[in-house]
Amino acid sequence: MFRKSKSIVGLDLGSSVVKAVELSLEGPEPVITGFSRVEIPPGGDHQEAIEAAFRNGRFRSKRVVTSVAGQSVVVRYVPMMRMSDSELKQAIRFETDKYLPFELDEVVMDCQAIESLSPTVIEGENEESEDKMTVLLAACKINEIEKQAQLIQDNGLQHSAIDVDLFALANAWELCGAIPGDADEEKRGIALVDVGAVRTSINVLYGGDTCFGREINIGGGDMTQAVARRLSVEPFEAEAIKRASDSQEAEVNSAIAPVLEDLVSEISLSLDYVEHHAGIAVEEILLSGGGVLAPGVASYIEQATARRARTWSPLEGLRIDASRLDVEELEAWAPTLVVALGLASRVRAA
Ligand SMILES: Nc1ncnc2c1ncn2[C@@H]1O[C@H](COP(=O)(O)OP(=O)(O)OP(=O)(O)O)[C@@H](O)[C@H]1O
Ligand SMILES: [Mg+2]
Repeated sequence: MFRKSKSIVGLDLGSSVVKAVELSLEGPEPVITGFSRVEIPPGGDHQEAIEAAFRNGRFRSKRVVTSVAGQSVVVRYVPMMRMSDSELKQAIRFETDKYLPFELDEVVMDCQAIESLSPTVIEGENEESEDKMTVLLAACKINEIEKQAQLIQDNGLQHSAIDVDLFALANAWELCGAIPGDADEEKRGIALVDVGAVRTSINVLYGGDTCFGREINIGGGDMTQAVARRLSVEPFEAEAIKRASDSQEAEVNSAIAPVLEDLVSEISLSLDYVEHHAGIAVEEILLSGGGVLAPGVASYIEQATARRARTWSPLEGLRIDASRLDVEELEAWAPTLVVALGLASRVRAA
């Protein structure tokens, strides 16, 4: 009766918006028990935004999972001889020279063998070999980790884990039961594409496992700048005009068209690369992030990549405690909460 439920706040420290979603385990099933979203104003910083997010969110827990993204992080797929986890942790250190643009002593590293991905899929090797496996290697610069740890500590919060944005996307997808159980269905490629303010993250899943990850430095901020230039207005005005789908929609559309064109050409390059090297078909693009809220983005991506594309909500199938948060607001921002939910999904292992 007095069993304490476990809660974790997924804290997505986006470059323009801090998103915090709390998941609690009440019994086996995770329930959303808190939500907060704070836009970082010009000149503002993460410190203030986190403070505001926790003030508004009225979360049960102070335990947070955050994530890193951008140039401090490297994710690679490494073909290795089959070995145990403990052997792998040792052996991978001798491979890093080849795969990481950083020195070993300036990074924190983690690696994991991915069972469902044979090197045939990752490397396009012709011969399937029993002795080989594919290892996912992730490394992040220590100073970036320390910066985040300090930020969390300064806010009186406790760090439960630090994840990578790209992986949080996949965890959110898995959390809402979107990975099909059916064996045939499982073996299809899908691309999770999150268009943020400064970057777009792509994570291609095959049979539920990530087989390709990449970031592109294009996002909603570039669309805002394009609108500002086209209409000769200040960025904050351009931001408001972009978000209001009203009389200026045609101008907004034509201003952001070149940005979308660049974005789609990078997405297509990535997906073509995966399809060519791994010999899989990426049938569907699942869009998230604030950038996809601009008019016509999903349909443009669908038409320009010649693949099915839709915006998805990470709330599908999840229970929400309506007594603790504004459900309408949560649902309105759902596509932008994918990373935060993916981070909070760690409550299941907490
Ligand atoms: N209604 C809307 N229409 C168009 N764009 C929108 C809308 N609402 C938000 N955006 C854009 O979404 C972006 C913010 O999205 P998001 O919260 O996913 O970014 P972020 O996580 O802070 O950025 P990043 O992941 O690049 O660090 C901003 O560029 C903003 O202009
Ligand atoms: Mg983001």
